[in-house]
Amino acid sequence: MSAVDDVRARLAKHGQEHLLTFWDELDEQGRSALLADVDAIDLAAFETAWQQAHTQEHVVDPAMFEVPECLDAIEGRRARAAGEQVIREGRVAAMMVAGGQATRLGVDIPKGAFPIGPVSGASLFQIFAEGIAASNERYGVRIPWYVMTSKANHAATTSYFEEHDYFGLNPADVLFFSQSMIPVADEKGKILLEEKHKVAMSPNGHGGSLTALAETGMLADMTARGVEFISYFQVDNPLVKPVDPEFVGAHVTRGSQMSSLTMGKASDGEKVGLFIEIDEKLTIVEYSDFPEAMMSLKDADGRRKFDLANIAVHVLDVAFVESMTSGDAGRALPWHRASKKVSTVDLASGTFVAPDSPNAVKLEMFVFDALPLARTTMLLRTERSERFSPVKNATGVDSVATAKRDLVRRAASWLAECGVSVPMTADGEPDGVVEISPLYADDVVSLAAREEGGDREIAAGGSTLLRP
Ligand code: UTP
Repeated sequence: MSAVDDVRARLAKHGQEHLLTFWDELDEQGRSALLADVDAIDLAAFETAWQQAHTQEHVVDPAMFEVPECLDAIEGRRARAAGEQVIREGRVAAMMVAGGQATRLGVDIPKGAFPIGPVSGASLFQIFAEGIAASNERYGVRIPWYVMTSKANHAATTSYFEEHDYFGLNPADVLFFSQSMIPVADEKGKILLEEKHKVAMSPNGHGGSLTALAETGMLADMTARGVEFISYFQVDNPLVKPVDPEFVGAHVTRGSQMSSLTMGKASDGEKVGLFIEIDEKLTIVEYSDFPEAMMSLKDADGRRKFDLANIAVHVLDVAFVESMTSGDAGRALPWHRASKKVSTVDLASGTFVAPDSPNAVKLEMFVFDALPLARTTMLLRTERSERFSPVKNATGVDSVATAKRDLVRRAASWLAECGVSVPMTADGEPDGVVEISPLYADDVVSLAAREEGGDREIAAGGSTLLRP
């Protein structure tokens, strides 16, 4: 049997032999590329993932939803010293997931390279790097930063950091690792071709970060460095504090294995995942799985009952991630399906199709599905205006404009709290553009120390960048 016959037989066993439809048209290079692509797919694992994503196993009965316990900001502040101690002792790492495809933003650079600083034009990567550098300086440590990429953006991401000298961080402390990819299929589970010689693949979701940490040796690297706690965040949220002593402190003092920050919803129908408790386990139910009628339920005090939104900021014990990923346990995270528009080659005509509506199914794991698997969890409340404004879309809701606006609003409110007079417009917005680099201050406390006794003036309608 020739190599291609062998591959054809293997594909046929899984109903995927159409991947060789254009074999006869391909040149040598195309053929070897296609064989390499097919070889890299674990067809049995794909089938299992597909089946799991198409059963309703993970959808739970809403009658079982309870409101989980949530610590408030005062409890976070009380835990600050404990968090500062473990940071100082080098027991905390930052980890950012940046392997997504950023299709909604629609740019051909990694999302993290997108300029978001309202005055400086600093990229998301730069803003996080400066946040980590600020913590390094404050606590006299070198916090390792683990950056998850995927095949599609790994090279562009690492070159971007090199071109920018790692934003002043020590390159030995910025560790890139790539997540796994999984085939993209049509609604019936037939894997799609992106080109005649190329299988359509997509990253396996941010939940893939846990197995990727183990498989790429990053967990071992953490252990070698004495890291016990992982401060997890997403590349799209410029308001996040990469390593937050209050959140880490609350995680540590509560003896939690996995913790999450949360905030109140903006409206009943806001499209965010919600924290609930089921059988005493902290769980996130996605917006699309949450019964509409329950979104507006009120509690005895007349407040929204299910109001704890997921902002994708977590702390995980290294030991917990190890336990999740040893043996086959890494596959314990459930698979989810998402309908997406994916450009593909039409098998009948051989032409390239860029669809107007979803034509494909991507399979993804979500990191928050690890929460109910943890023995102990903790939720800490934060304010949206302080910590959350994701860049998802080019325009509109959760866009470049709203993230820049929220950076300016937060900078203005910190300055006002420090006694600096900030000119405001008639509709209550800061009059002008103000940006505070995390190197200058990364919260109101550090800003107060900088501005103490000062007589700063912010000019109406101007641009102000506070950076050392
Ligand atoms: P999103 O769910 O917003 O997806 O990712 P996305 O791929 O960035 O954007 P769209 O949906 O294509 O527009 C939330 C976070 O999870 C990361 C993203 O990089 C982002 O930080 N992510 C997502 C991964 O690291 N890997 C994935 O497979 C998916």
